[in-house]
Amino acid sequence: MTQTQKIIIDTDPGQDDAVAILLALASPELDVLAVTAVAGNVPLVLTHTNARKICELAGRRDVPVYAGCDRPLARDLVTAEYIHGVSGLDGISLPEPQMPLSEGDGVDVIINHVMNEPAGTVSLCVLGPLTNIATALRRAPQIADRVKQIVLMGGAYFEVGNVTPAAEFNIYVDPEAAQAVFQSGIRIVVLPLDVTHKALTTPARVARFREMAGGAENRARLGRGQPSIGEVVASWIDFFERFDVEKYGAEGAPLHDPCVIAYLLAPELFKGREVNVEIEVDSPLTRGMTVADWWRVTGREANALFLRDVDADAFFDLLVTRIGRL
Ligand code: RIB
Ligand code: CA
Repeated sequence: MTQTQKIIIDTDPGQDDAVAILLALASPELDVLAVTAVAGNVPLVLTHTNARKICELAGRRDVPVYAGCDRPLARDLVTAEYIHGVSGLDGISLPEPQMPLSEGDGVDVIINHVMNEPAGTVSLCVLGPLTNIATALRRAPQIADRVKQIVLMGGAYFEVGNVTPAAEFNIYVDPEAAQAVFQSGIRIVVLPLDVTHKALTTPARVARFREMAGGAENRARLGRGQPSIGEVVASWIDFFERFDVEKYGAEGAPLHDPCVIAYLLAPELFKGREVNVEIEVDSPLTRGMTVADWWRVTGREANALFLRDVDADAFFDLLVTRIGRL
């Protein structure tokens, strides 16, 4: 068995974050050291609550969930209830979490794990705005030499923006944080809209979640008369895809955040290019744009692996196979 990868999931659940967290918790190759919540899709109090609901759904109350930053570095918080619902996790309603929020600042937890684990062994998987990561870099710049990699969902180039014509939501919410991360020198792997818009939740794919047999946790749920994990996942997708299907007219919504975890598990499913990525922070018109030098015309040094393609069928096979083990 390959050595387990130590990861911290930094997240703003969010139904797609939720599917990503389930995928991680269902995959023995990944040692989830912590889940750190950040304000994004919905305010922090909801993102950390949702993160605990998701861990409990997976039967993983052992995974510590911490609260990180409740607002961007330098901007007012912009949220996305119009996509994710008021709770941020609309779909089948899950009970209030029994597991407590873990004591401690999520940013300090990121710093402590990176400093205490052997250098180069902890990957930061970022599914929301980069506020927690940038704050950790400000508080402890020395972590930049010790983080193995940052694998993040964010940005867009050929696919352009989803919250403005120029910007993707995670980068738009906190462009200063994104700029600090992309200038940190840390190994960065970007899963932008260019990739996630090729991982669409078609009806046939959603049906596969509903039909999942599931493992021990799922059987226990059914024994308690609760909806199966597959039904919960399908309800999340049904909820958040309604917006994207209407907007893009596609036969399904892009399943953004699970691409981050899938990359860790099966990088061969993705294709991209090492390029330079800079973040627009000044222009009101293009705030949060990821200026990816895909054609290498600037001479600026590459600072990220910018992914553009995914084997979507294999991606959904991985999702259903793994989550179907819970
Ligand atoms: O633009 C998509 C990203 O914004 C996803 O991470 C989604 O959860 C929202 O945070
Ligand atoms: Ca997210």
